[in-house]
Amino acid sequence: MAESKSNELMERIVSLCKRRGFVFPSSEVYGGINGFWDYGPLGAELKRNVKEAWWRSMTQQRDDVVGLDATIIMHPAVWRASGHVDTFSDPMIDCKTCKGRFRADQIAEIPCPQKPSKCVAECHGEKTEARAFNLMFRTTVGPVESEENLAYLRPETAQAIFVQFKNVLETSRQKVPFGICQVGKAFRNEVTPRNFTFRSREFEQMELEFFIRPDEVIQKLAGQVAAVDPADPLAVLRAPVATWGWEAWHKYWVEERLRWYESIGLPRTSLEEYWQTREELAHYAKATVDILFKFPFGTQELEGIAARGDFDLSQHQKHSGKSMEYFDEEAKAKYIPHVIEPSAGVDRLALALLCSAYTEEEVADEKGRKETRVVLKFHPRIAPVKVGVFPLLKNRPELVERALAIRDRLRPHLSVFYDESGAIGRRYRRQDEAGTPFGVTVDFETLGEAGPELRDTVTLRDRDTMQQTRVRIDDLLPLLLEKIR
Ligand code: GAP
Repeated sequence: MAESKSNELMERIVSLCKRRGFVFPSSEVYGGINGFWDYGPLGAELKRNVKEAWWRSMTQQRDDVVGLDATIIMHPAVWRASGHVDTFSDPMIDCKTCKGRFRADQIAEIPCPQKPSKCVAECHGEKTEARAFNLMFRTTVGPVESEENLAYLRPETAQAIFVQFKNVLETSRQKVPFGICQVGKAFRNEVTPRNFTFRSREFEQMELEFFIRPDEVIQKLAGQVAAVDPADPLAVLRAPVATWGWEAWHKYWVEERLRWYESIGLPRTSLEEYWQTREELAHYAKATVDILFKFPFGTQELEGIAARGDFDLSQHQKHSGKSMEYFDEEAKAKYIPHVIEPSAGVDRLALALLCSAYTEEEVADEKGRKETRVVLKFHPRIAPVKVGVFPLLKNRPELVERALAIRDRLRPHLSVFYDESGAIGRRYRRQDEAGTPFGVTVDFETLGEAGPELRDTVTLRDRDTMQQTRVRIDDLLPLLLEKIR
């Protein structure tokens, strides 16, 4: 897509998000704060649905993954052990003339604060050498602001899983291979937040740490480690087997995650797998696959799936002095498990879903005039509102009464939006923009005015095809539940 076209599209998506209450700039009445975003009524529902779908598929529908909900602020030693204190930084350059601070690798792209219309490359001020700028937000714990009381807002949820590994293992009675997952806030003082919510300073992650036997243990136990067949790599998706080493488990999680994205409505064609090169890999990683999504502003990372070896547990064992070893009864061996980590961002995914769902179509209105219909074609599973319920006319109490009764009947099971104001066509359009997959209209046929055979039926409108079918009120709930599941 040409750059100006994709910028335009992104602008229209951002504007819809604001107009319809998906996303607002944080603290907007004070001019906003760069890199922080709030989710409005529809955005909050969308995010909840994303997190719930992830949680359900990651733990509730599996026997081998359990959940955790840990604190955002942890003992600062956690971040020394994990390497974040020393290495979680971007190289920064200061300009001595304009006093701007820039990421060394992005210096040509960033506007100079003194001359915002100009690129910093044009600001000829003398630059400092690149210096490391740590991305963790700092705070102090307790009433005294001192270095001893220094703490950090977590830059990832993963470390809490590693430091609670033993507690979870002992209380959940899981056996390796098994996983611990967590959803929660993470904070990074990003130097250049950008692309709407894509790179924010406060965001949410959904992370799984899946603990596996080291390959040497499998080798000893079974004589060999199952190889991933390059001719049939999807063979790993057939139920996990005890002889899988890290390569098979890694491939398995890449496939699982891709399938999950498809299950919530991101077409496979909008996703790409990117295998990091040896030079790009973090020093502890054996392999990392990024799942990329084709955003209007470029194909960018949605999730990283890393084979982290035993790096994190070993570091915490070393720094805390507490054993992170696991006794494997079957293998009769003690070892520090290795880890496969699928790590996704909720906000990035919500943005990908919005971009993927955003559609403009030319349609005819009731009078046959052409108009542009903006519709968010969300998968029903993640749509913020599942069904709109409308009386055809609001000044006919018998229609309103039936519509309210239907709303109350559906509401315990689905998120329902009741709307009686304006022409029915406009109400449909409003729900199209909100991404509501189904609309139920109570009309005179419902009351039996067109004959007894249509009494107690309603029209059910499909958002994407705009087709309307007649459905018995008694059949509505099971029908909708079937379509939404
Ligand atoms: N524990 C591994 C880890 O945190 P990461 O690649 O730094 O890995 C994982 O982050 C995911 O978190 C990313 O793929 C992205 O979806 C999300 N993420 C990271 N930084 C983000 C930011 N500044 N804004 C929004 N999402 C972010």
